[in-house]
Amino acid sequence: MNRTIRTTEDVLALLDGLFPPAGPFWDRFYADRSADRPFFAPKPDENLVSYLDRGILSPSRALDLGCGPGRNAIHLAAAGFEVDAVDLSSAAVAWAEERAREAGTTANLRFHQGSIFEAELPHHHYDLVYDSGCLHHLPPHRRVSYLALLDRVLAPNGHFAVTAFAAGSMGSERPDEELYRLGALEGGLAYTADELRSLFRDFAPLEVRPMAAQGPDSELFGVPFLLTALFQRTASL
Ligand SMILES: C[S@@+](CC[C@H](N)C(=O)[O-])C[C@H]1O[C@@H](n2cnc3c(N)ncnc32)[C@H](O)[C@@H]1O
Repeated sequence: MNRTIRTTEDVLALLDGLFPPAGPFWDRFYADRSADRPFFAPKPDENLVSYLDRGILSPSRALDLGCGPGRNAIHLAAAGFEVDAVDLSSAAVAWAEERAREAGTTANLRFHQGSIFEAELPHHHYDLVYDSGCLHHLPPHRRVSYLALLDRVLAPNGHFAVTAFAAGSMGSERPDEELYRLGALEGGLAYTADELRSLFRDFAPLEVRPMAAQGPDSELFGVPFLLTALFQRTASL
């Protein structure tokens, strides 16, 4: 059959096919747990900890998108949140589940293997949706799906926070259109603070700033090549 496009989902699936499949890439990425990757260390993001320390976030229901080996999901669960965490990679989820058992946070933390766009979540709404480093690995057309996901799951007054490659420091700065001609995401897409504010303009921006770099002895994760952004869904939305 040559005429395969009928729905918006068909268009999105066709565009997905212009890029290498992400699942096998991430499974290979996590195969060697001793590899020198900054976010393999079991430390929570400094910005996430700062939202908690400042009382902007308090224990409630949270969803971690692209949770990887679970460092932020486990921190949220340890802080008293009820957490659902999703990742495409079965290797990441297996590692995250082991870490959660070791941390004693399994009672209020569930991991789900699969795409964030297809995950069958046990709750309709989340007070916090957190994404550390997933958005910037999505192809441009999946921003449409991402915004639809946020619209569906973020509770009224809920918070959404994201970290993404900071333009000028890390990530591809090619325009969206060129990425399709290239058929590659070049290791992830760079965003400016204005691009994040514009993408999530349906939400109120509370804080958009570079991540604060952390030294090797810090208990927190912080690298200078990420932007951090915190938004809130206002009640009127
Ligand atoms: C840079 S890693 C960050 C992992 C974790 N958030 C952390 O900071 O430790 C990006 C993660 O996003 C996941 N990912 C990418 N696309 C995804 C999708 N469509 N659905 C679910 N997870 C996805 C990858 O498997 C990978 O674990």
